[in-house]
Amino acid sequence: MKIFIDTAKLNEIKEALSWGIVDGVTTNPSLIKQAIDALGKGVDMENYIGEILRAAGEGHDVSLEVTGLTEEKMFEQAKRLHDRFNSIAGNAVIKIPANPSLNKTSLQDYDGLKVTRRLSEEGIRVNYTLVMTLEQALLGAKAGARYVSPFAGRIDDYLRERAGISFGKGDYYEASGMGEGEEILNDEGIVSGVDLVDNIVQVFREYQFETEVIAASVRNPRQVRELALTGVDIATIPFDVLKRMTSHEKTYEGIVRFTADIVPEYASLFE
Ligand code: E4P
Repeated sequence: MKIFIDTAKLNEIKEALSWGIVDGVTTNPSLIKQAIDALGKGVDMENYIGEILRAAGEGHDVSLEVTGLTEEKMFEQAKRLHDRFNSIAGNAVIKIPANPSLNKTSLQDYDGLKVTRRLSEEGIRVNYTLVMTLEQALLGAKAGARYVSPFAGRIDDYLRERAGISFGKGDYYEASGMGEGEEILNDEGIVSGVDLVDNIVQVFREYQFETEVIAASVRNPRQVRELALTGVDIATIPFDVLKRMTSHEKTYEGIVRFTADIVPEYASLFE
């Protein structure tokens, strides 16, 4: 499984890259906002994004999202992002929302697909994002997306919100779903975000799609474990979750014991 870091904070990206385990970066407008809020006003966005692409380097894709809500606007923005940034390290990928409509009945429903097809035909790689169903993922792959990003955590949020369960953003949600009384909570048969990813992975494997699946909206290390068990191609993980993945109480305890047990004979090997 490849690991992408899900942040627009350059310090987090650089730190995680220095661990030697990061294969790519994903951003979205909310993550850019968090980075800018942390840096304060006056950030030169063009330089900043350029630095992210340079830090990630060739072979480590960086997803940048459009903000337009129509096919033409998204196409124009995607071209602009690609033309400005892909020459830096050949690693710019354009995020296109599965459905750019601000309401449920708009015709813009289909613009995500149309623009994905157009961009893919021009050789511009698309990360088809905000995917909440297998059906959306399937259509994104058919439209030629390089990646599709199912939002595991947001599906867990949705199930809990609908059931009136209170929860914190990082709270673990059972991959096999949670029952409310007798009934297992589900969204059209999908019982958790991990279940959604698992379904997509199975179908993409069955049809040998070239599109890779990025499990997104990852909230805690246990969810990463369950996502890895689905065989998903990539998980994009926030920095704080990555940090938590490095440690365990017994690892700390073990180091304390080993350090205390170093005999001078063994220590002399390192002098
Ligand atoms: C990445 O591609 C997504 O935009 C991101 O994982 C969303 O995460 P969130 O649901 O925690 O905001």
